[in-house]
Formats: sequence, structure tokens, C-alpha cells
Amino acid sequence: MILRLESAGIQQTNAIGRAIANKLAPGACIALSGGLGAGKTALSRAICKALGAPMDLFQSPTFTIVNEYPSRLGTIRHADWYRLHSREELDAIGFGDWAPNQGVTLIEWADRIPGAIPGDALHISILHGEGKRRILTLEGGESWAAVMDMLKKRPGGGSRRSSDAR
Ligand SMILES: Nc1ncnc2c1ncn2[C@@H]1O[C@H](COP(=O)(O)OP(=O)(O)O)[C@@H](O)[C@H]1O
Ligand SMILES: [Mg+2]
Repeated sequence: MILRLESAGIQQTNAIGRAIANKLAPGACIALSGGLGAGKTALSRAICKALGAPMDLFQSPTFTIVNEYPSRLGTIRHADWYRLHSREELDAIGFGDWAPNQGVTLIEWADRIPGAIPGDALHISILHGEGKRRILTLEGGESWAAVMDMLKKRPGGGSRRSSDAR
């Protein structure tokens, strides 16, 4: 199933992130792709926040390759594969040891090593439009159908909160 969503600004991307987060179950993996500044970290941030991660600790994993946060779904592993190029490099950082049925995995630049993405991941590619416009294309299997149905009807997931506006 494929779903295309438009975001006119960071608040809409935040709402999409919240809506996705509210439907996640432990074990979920989200594979993000899109160029620099597309909004992969911004969307990850919204998801982490909605899952109750301590946001004072949140930072882009660009330099650390992976950051971990506690959340209400267990440990969030937020990775950035920009500088990785092989399965061997992933093994070196212990990616293969991550229990697939625990916590939540968010991977930026997931398309760097496509063969390593779990088959049941939700793929989100973000295209940078003019100014603040972004086009998000979500692609996932049967387990993501309910999430995409909900987003299709109401991208904000019905949980817009003005306190999240930035
Ligand atoms: N509609 C939008 N969705 C996401 N980010 C947006 C949007 N409009 C503007 N931005 C800005 O674009 C930047 C995206 O940066 P970032 O999330 O770090 O990108 P990436 O991780 O893909 O390189 C942020 O500064 C964010 O505030
Ligand atoms: Mg990033």
C-alpha cells in the first residue's frame, strides 16, 4: 500500500509524526529516505516526542550514527545511515543484535543499505518541495494498512495540539 501526503510546514509534519506514533506497536521499524533537509530528523523528532522520549536529550544521529531514548514503547533506536555503506558496517555497530520485536527503530538514510531494512518496515520517503512544502510517500505492507487508512482520512490523526506548534 502506498500513501502520498503533503505537508505545508513543520506543524503538519509534526502532526503526521504524532499520528504515526499513536499507532505504533513495539517492534515497529520506520525507514526514512530523502535528501538533506527533507525533514527525516524533524519527523523522527515528532515521533519520539509523541512516544514520550525525553526531548532534552534528542539530537540528530548524524554524527553518532545511533541514538537511543526510552519511550512508552520501549527503547527507541534512532539511526542515521548516511555514512554507512555495507551490511558489515551495520554489524560493526551491532544493528544485527537489535531485538526485532522490541522498542521502535527509526532509520534515516535507510536507502543507503536497502537490503538491511526489515521486510515489515514502513518506508517513508520525503521530497523537498518549494519552501516549506514536503511530499511524504508512505509505503508498507499489511501491518501498516490501518495506519495509512487513518492518515488518509485525517493526516493529523485527530490529535493536533497547539502546544506542539513550533
Ligand atoms: N513541511 C516541513 N516538514 C519538515 N521539515 C520542514 C518543513 N518545512 C520546513 N522544515 C524544516 O526543514 C528542516 C528539515 O531538517 P531535518 O529534519 O534535519 O532534515 P533531514 O533529517 O532530512 O536532513 C528543519 O529545519 C525543518 O524545520
Ligand atoms: Mg537528519
